Formats: sequence, structure tokens, C-alpha cells
Amino acid sequence: MIVLGGSASTELAEKVAKEVGVEPGRLELKRFPDGEKYVRVLDEVKGQDVAVIQSLYQNPDEYIFEYLLLVDTLRDLGAKSITGVAPYLAYARQDARFYPGEAVSSASVARLFEAAGTTSFLAIDCHLHRLGDVSRTFKIPALNLSAMPLLGEYARENLKPRKPIVVAPDEEADQWAGVVAKELGSDHIVFHKTRIRKEGHTSSKVEVDAGSINLKGRDVVFADDIISTGGTIAEATKACKKAGAARVFALCTHPVLREGALKRMKAAGVAKVVGTDTIPSPVSKVSVAPIIARALKSQA
Ligand code: R5P
Repeated sequence: MIVLGGSASTELAEKVAKEVGVEPGRLELKRFPDGEKYVRVLDEVKGQDVAVIQSLYQNPDEYIFEYLLLVDTLRDLGAKSITGVAPYLAYARQDARFYPGEAVSSASVARLFEAAGTTSFLAIDCHLHRLGDVSRTFKIPALNLSAMPLLGEYARENLKPRKPIVVAPDEEADQWAGVVAKELGSDHIVFHKTRIRKEGHTSSKVEVDAGSINLKGRDVVFADDIISTGGTIAEATKACKKAGAARVFALCTHPVLREGALKRMKAAGVAKVVGTDTIPSPVSKVSVAPIIARALKSQA
């Protein structure tokens, strides 16, 4: 197998290659003066199974286009199979037409990936709230992996929460909180979140309803897929502190961390935020390389 990393995920691809037990594949990626991308595959890929790792954070349009050039080239060069790995799958949120005329972006991206020559696809803790699973977006075999067991393990070994309770900051996070709770041998509860709408559009402001809970003396561990502005975790933390929580930790797969998220969460009382390297960040303490490698090996 050849493991290639696009410009978004060079380091992660190196870690995955190591876990798979192969040398990282070699690419030449650069930009022409007019802004165009140049892609060259330096390995012999004819007849080979190739994995392309490209996490679609921060500059998703650039990374998607580079991915398409790369995959189309691999197909042209005769690769036997091409597994696309987008640990953070951009455009997943727009998985429905909420207002007339809107692009259903998740479906458009899936069609582009398939048209370029992707033969199977992997994502991690994918944010497809209405569809639920990537396999419903793609026609090719597509799998949604989860980093939650690794995050739970990290919390158990490194954060060592006392009398822990795992909290899903909203209903959608119930699935992840359950997994982390299992790792910690604790119970878990679910908060209710309302995103405040401004002139018909959603804003980053949220309200969190924790119900009537007593968290006196207990360490809270939040589990969510994404921390973006940190607004959800900050509001949920305030509710936990009000209910008597001792320390508060926040686990997430994708640390998007925009608009002063870390500062916002710290100000609300979060002791530590831990994320994975689907998006490189100061809190990316857990690597998803082992779970990607395991999935790639089981496909081979
Ligand atoms: C939304 O449903 C997601 O699971 C996260 O809760 C959300 O993306 C977090 O956003 P923010 O950090 O901006 O509150």
C-alpha cells in the first residue's frame, strides 16, 4: 500500500504510513506564480492500492481541489484502488437543503470525489446530522471512523477525572458521550442546546439547558465532535459549574478553535481541552493515525 498526504495532512500521513508499516509516499506539491496548483506523484503507483490523506480544515476549497488533481492523476497512472481519507470532512454540515436554492454541499463534494476516481472513502466523527453516516452520502464504500475511544482512553490515563460524569453538550453528542463514558466507567447525561437564529440564519451563540442536575464534587468530561467557537462548551460549562461541578474537561475530535475559542472556554471554567490531529492545533494531543491505519489494513 502507498500512503500519500496532501498539503493539509503531510504529518498525519507520515504517522499513518508508520502505523501501516510502509514508507510515506512521495509527492511534489507546489504553486505556480498565478496561484495554480502543481501536483506530481513521485512513486510508481501502477497496480497499487493507494490511500490519500487530506483533512479538509481551514482552507477546504484549496485542499479539495488539490485532492481532486491528485486522485485523478493516480487513476490516470493506473492505481488499483484509491482510498480517500478526509479525517475532517468539510461541507458535511450542509447535508440538506434548508432554504430553497441552497447547495447540498455534502452531496456535491461526495460526487466530485467519486468522479475524480476515489474508490472508497474514510472520514472520522463526521458531522452529517441529518444523514447520520457518510455511507449515505457516497455511492462508493464509505466508512465513518470514531476517535472517541482514543479520546476516552487519553482522558482516563492523563486527565484522571475524579467521580467523572460525561456530558454530551447537545443531543447529537449523545453517541460520543456514551463511548467516552464506557472508557471512563462512568455514567453520561445529555444537555439540550438551542442555537440562536439571527434573521433566519444560525449564529455562533447558543443556549444550553442542563435541566436540574447535581454535579457536586464531580469532574465533568464533555465529548463532542467539533469545537468551533467554543460557545457550546463555554455555555455548557457555566451550567455545570452552577450545578456544583469540580473540574471540567472538554474532549473533541476536531479542534477547529476559531474566534478565541480556547480563551472563551477557559474564561467559562474549562480546565483542559483535548482534541485530535484531524486538525493540527495546540490541543491536538491524540493522534487518529492508529484508527486510520487499522481501517486501511482491514481493507487491504
Ligand atoms: C454541533 O452540533 C457540533 O456538534 C458542535 O457542538 C458545534 O460545532 C460546536 O460549535 P461551537 O464550538 O461554535 O459552539
